[in-house]
Amino acid sequence: MLMVPAKTGFLMASSIRPPARPVTLVNLDPSSEVPLYRQLYEGVRQAILAGRIAPGARVPSTRLLAAELDLSRNTVTLAFEQLHAEGYLEGQPRAGTYVARTLPERLLSARRPPPAPQPKSKVRGVSTRGMVLAGTGICPSEPMTGLPRPFRPGLPAIDAFPRRLWARLALRRWRSGDLPLAYNDPAGFRPLREAVAEHVAAIRGATCGADQVIIVSGSQQGLDLAARVLLDPGDTVWLEDPGYLGTRAALLGAGARIVPVPLDHEGLSVTAGERLAPDARMACVSPSHQYPTGVTMSAGRRLGLLRWAARANSWIVEDDYDSEFRYASRPLACLQGMDTEARVVYIGTFSKTVFPGLRLGYLVVPPHVAGIFRAARAVCDRHSPTIDQAILADFIGEGHLARHVRRMRTLYQDRQSALVEAGRSLLGGLVELAPAEAGMHLVGWLPLGTDDGAVSDRLAAEGIDTLPLSRHSIGPCERAALLLGYAAFDRRAIRRGVERMAAVLERWKP
Ligand SMILES: Cc1ncc(COP(=O)(O)O)c(C=O)c1O
Repeated sequence: MLMVPAKTGFLMASSIRPPARPVTLVNLDPSSEVPLYRQLYEGVRQAILAGRIAPGARVPSTRLLAAELDLSRNTVTLAFEQLHAEGYLEGQPRAGTYVARTLPERLLSARRPPPAPQPKSKVRGVSTRGMVLAGTGICPSEPMTGLPRPFRPGLPAIDAFPRRLWARLALRRWRSGDLPLAYNDPAGFRPLREAVAEHVAAIRGATCGADQVIIVSGSQQGLDLAARVLLDPGDTVWLEDPGYLGTRAALLGAGARIVPVPLDHEGLSVTAGERLAPDARMACVSPSHQYPTGVTMSAGRRLGLLRWAARANSWIVEDDYDSEFRYASRPLACLQGMDTEARVVYIGTFSKTVFPGLRLGYLVVPPHVAGIFRAARAVCDRHSPTIDQAILADFIGEGHLARHVRRMRTLYQDRQSALVEAGRSLLGGLVELAPAEAGMHLVGWLPLGTDDGAVSDRLAAEGIDTLPLSRHSIGPCERAALLLGYAAFDRRAIRRGVERMAAVLERWKP
């Protein structure tokens, strides 16, 4: 066993927090199967995380450390390169290496996967899984009735949906006489599957045929189905943190062990995921427009994620829930379209592009598992209502969907501007709002130290619906924020909503 005592200077050089007594820094075991560089990396990382080496402490040179530890310099260099790459060490060659002053805070919080939530108390006769499902928090506490209140996230402009056109298509289908009213294919109504395959290929760069498309009752059923078909209870899954509650709920329902993986400006950190759970069975991501932060996953990260999945023999579940609404730049092709190893299960929904009450979405699955998904889909509810599938197939096939999405893109951009303008003139110092290049909601940042859950509750009591960012986080949130949906509300409603928010926030101190 090798030890690095404090006399190396590793610790004593810290001007911030000198240790009171010599501390064993790293234990290395040359007889272990774990390579020495990996042991050194892990030992130093743990020492940093545990605060045994203070931020800002100078790190001895690789040459000195190699000599002290009786290791090759290569071994030390490899370990340090990894620590550099992950943000634990900083500095330039020749200028010295230091423990990062600002440690990757989110990595700190994501050190260990959280324990799966335990059901509070078991109700007689109900399974443990039933209690877990009841506790996931995605079921609204009260039935949703009436008009949505600003700024409820996740809603499209229901007021602008072409209802008459939809009614005409429905009537035409009923009158045509060729509507299949008996049981239909569990994978979906064939013309709709064909229309979806064409749509995702043209709009999202997916590579698929109609046989790979499984029609589901919205993305939620897709997530649930993917989790149950691809995972065994206890399997480990990477989940973006913060991330979508619906995904977390489906994974918990399947008995998965969730590993929250931090994000940065390029999306999910593949390096952090590999460090936390290198052999995870699945990664769940929303690369086009990460929910809830709005980050777009970079091309490099996408490739990194695909490479990891190939190496680890894992699945990637890609939730592409609102990619049609991108305002600034052209969207990157979906991960599914970049996947050459049949690792990606793609999930799309018509909840945003048509209306959420329709409850129709789709999976695009690799050909070798399409039959299994089809059979599992039959177990859920046999299939989605054929009449709605047929109307939707006509809506897509006759070009109405593409036209509607184009109109909504312009409308949502305008509504987003209305929210940003109103926010800038009325919410200065209270909520920080910046334009986003995609999506249907904005993240409104609150002053440091604010309890966003308490703010959201108070606003709800005053007629304003928001979602606190902390609700989407498993680890501690870096900053408090509210998610504000804008797509479903016209300029007047947005202005009034912001006025009311300002009034509430001005007079309320948490
Ligand atoms: C990240 C994410 N995925 C999927 C959905 C759509 O869910 P569904 O298709 O079940 O309505 C939403 C809706 O808010 C969402 O935010």
